[in-house]
Amino acid sequence: MIRKLFVTTALPYANGHFHIGHIMEYIQADIWVRLQRMQGHMVHFVGADDAHGAPIMIAAEKAGQTPQEFVAAIASGRKQYLDGFHIRFDNWHSTDSPENTELAQGIYRRLRDRGLIATRTIEQFYDPVKGMFLPDRYIKGECPRCAAKDQYGDSCEVCGAVYSPTELKNPYSTLTGATPELRSSEHHFFRLSDPEIVAFLKEWTQDGRLQPEVARKAGEWFEAGLADWDISRDAPYFGIEIPDAPGKYFYVWLDAPIGYLASLKNHFDRGQAAQHWHEASRTNQSFDEFVADPGVEQVHFIGKDIVYFHTLFWPAMLKFADRKVPQAVNVHGFITVSGEKMSKSRGTGIDPLKYLRLGLNPEWLRYYLAAKLNARVEDVDFNPDDFVARVNADLVGKYVNIASRCANFIHKHFEGALAPLVDDDGQPLKLIPLEAVRSREAAILEALDKRDYARAIRDTMSAADEINQYFDAAKPWELARQADQLQGGSALHEVLSGCMEGFKYLTLFLAPILPETTARAFRFLGFDEPLTWAQRAVPVTTIRPYEHLMTRVDAKLLDQLFDLPAADAGKDGKDGQAAAKNGDKGNKGGKEAKAGAPAPAASAAVADGPLPGGEAIAPTITIDDFAKVDLRIARIVNAEHVEGSDKLLRLTLDVGEGRTRNVFSGIKSAYRPEDLVGKLTVMVANLAPRKMKFGVSEGMVLAASHADEKAQPGIYVLEPVAGAQPGMRVR
Ligand code: MSP
Ligand code: ZN
Repeated sequence: MIRKLFVTTALPYANGHFHIGHIMEYIQADIWVRLQRMQGHMVHFVGADDAHGAPIMIAAEKAGQTPQEFVAAIASGRKQYLDGFHIRFDNWHSTDSPENTELAQGIYRRLRDRGLIATRTIEQFYDPVKGMFLPDRYIKGECPRCAAKDQYGDSCEVCGAVYSPTELKNPYSTLTGATPELRSSEHHFFRLSDPEIVAFLKEWTQDGRLQPEVARKAGEWFEAGLADWDISRDAPYFGIEIPDAPGKYFYVWLDAPIGYLASLKNHFDRGQAAQHWHEASRTNQSFDEFVADPGVEQVHFIGKDIVYFHTLFWPAMLKFADRKVPQAVNVHGFITVSGEKMSKSRGTGIDPLKYLRLGLNPEWLRYYLAAKLNARVEDVDFNPDDFVARVNADLVGKYVNIASRCANFIHKHFEGALAPLVDDDGQPLKLIPLEAVRSREAAILEALDKRDYARAIRDTMSAADEINQYFDAAKPWELARQADQLQGGSALHEVLSGCMEGFKYLTLFLAPILPETTARAFRFLGFDEPLTWAQRAVPVTTIRPYEHLMTRVDAKLLDQLFDLPAADAGKDGKDGQAAAKNGDKGNKGGKEAKAGAPAPAASAAVADGPLPGGEAIAPTITIDDFAKVDLRIARIVNAEHVEGSDKLLRLTLDVGEGRTRNVFSGIKSAYRPEDLVGKLTVMVANLAPRKMKFGVSEGMVLAASHADEKAQPGIYVLEPVAGAQPGMRVR
């Protein structure tokens, strides 16, 4: 049966950039969404910024901006994180939007018309200088029990006493330092204590849709008794106005979850659901039809700190506004780093952008976190040594290893073709690598669907182990020698074909976790599109040339990730900027410079003056830096003049991808187009496409020239020695 899913992650406060905790949550959800899509299910996966509330209002004011400007600046930074970690939301919106205003006010009106909103006058601290009621977090004072100074309004960090802000001695506003005054004002409450609501929530939280530990927690809350929920705040407040209550705004936590619906509505209203990039997710339903459809499952991914809001307030709001309630609220624990809680102020933790900037592969993080995530509310520890060991041992040593060790044999002895794995009667052979994956596929699928990614990965890796052991035991290198002598070599062919077929299944199991690597692996296996789960039995018939699927993690990069910004410059003086400043003194010890850090210039070139080419040798890079540049042999299929350009030729290049590339090259002064056609050359094949005046250039051709082209003209396009084929990598 095709599932229809509406999936969200918690909406991050728009007062800061993403931290690694956010990224972990999105990776968890993204893996699950990709798994559902691989199975042909319909999924609408949305996020948004949580824009409202006093902290954002105050932060904006400090920055000299309107809250809208402040939020927009944060929002504009989201994409690079999401793209960087292959997190594919269908839509990203904001709670400060017309959709959210309309939905929040609509839901409120329903609740009010049902008699579930009460008003009551309460007393609260008010900052007379600032002219606003103070949220608890902005009040400090002396502990009423131990008299410790500068304690927050809710509890004492010194003696542990718990109290309300009005009990503090000598309270002050942290915004202005003023002594707050008690003032009264009318607040609106959602009547959570209403017996009908309590009865509904008891049922909803205990019917098996929640994780057992979450349901147990909810049970404790019922025992303590549910209090009505204060949902209003007085102006000035950055939020949504409460209908028929001038000067009153919804408390941010009322409109925040409604933002899930607002983002979905925006996604539908913009036509993205009707024309979804994922075919099975396309729908003709309107937003209203979709959210009312009893077949739709609404699934939220959240962290353990916001369970109360999502398992009490949110389902109750929806239910009593006559809307569908969530099917599941999937709660995860927190990420810690080497056993320590992250603290933004102390600057520990992992900066996701720095991770990307250093050139660490985002799929390493996806894999590592997946390997640690299960369906329970447990914290996940990021341990750098464990990270390096895990990724290198599993992904490179087990998974990728199978493809890389088989590929050469298959190309050399069988021209890339695989043997059909059936016996003389057409029955599937019971080969170890096939049994290894097929006996596990149901369990792996179930584990992924239940978010027990750790278990799915354990099973996947033990299948990989069996395949590798089978390969070793079969000694294909010996079979190959025999095959060369005896011709045919059917035993060798069977071993390799079995391993490749097993590798295909492993690729499928890992696809939701490693979307990019597995997409390349599928191409290597001869498929033009990644396989869906249903297509898993489609046999591999011919493989393409093997391309590097994944590099090993360099432990030095992890060191750099955890260095504080100041220490980045090279704390041991042997590398980084400290050494660079020393000019030719750097790096003499012969130690490899840390990849990614600015390395010292090569001493010889600096000392001996410019080389004949007119420029000194560039700073040293590591082999890993070089490996990032994918150089390929390319055939120049066509070359022509570019109208309006006196520098460029338009080249059509073939690097064996089954399509050609368009590349503009500044070599017009040195070559006639007709002299280039048919020749081989070398191109940078993984250069980001560049939009030029004359079209998009999809790479770069290598050519030699003097640094001062005017003084010493001449451009020399590189040409390989005879025998090289288009698509071969140059290394
Ligand atoms: N704005 C609210 C959520 C509103 S949902 C309608 C909020 N924002 S948040 O930015 O503080 O947190 C967003 C999500 O990140 C939450 O699910 C939270 O649990 C999660 N995490 C925050 N710190 C985390 C870790 N250290 N580890 C894992 N997830 C963490 O709460
Ligand atoms: Zn105290």
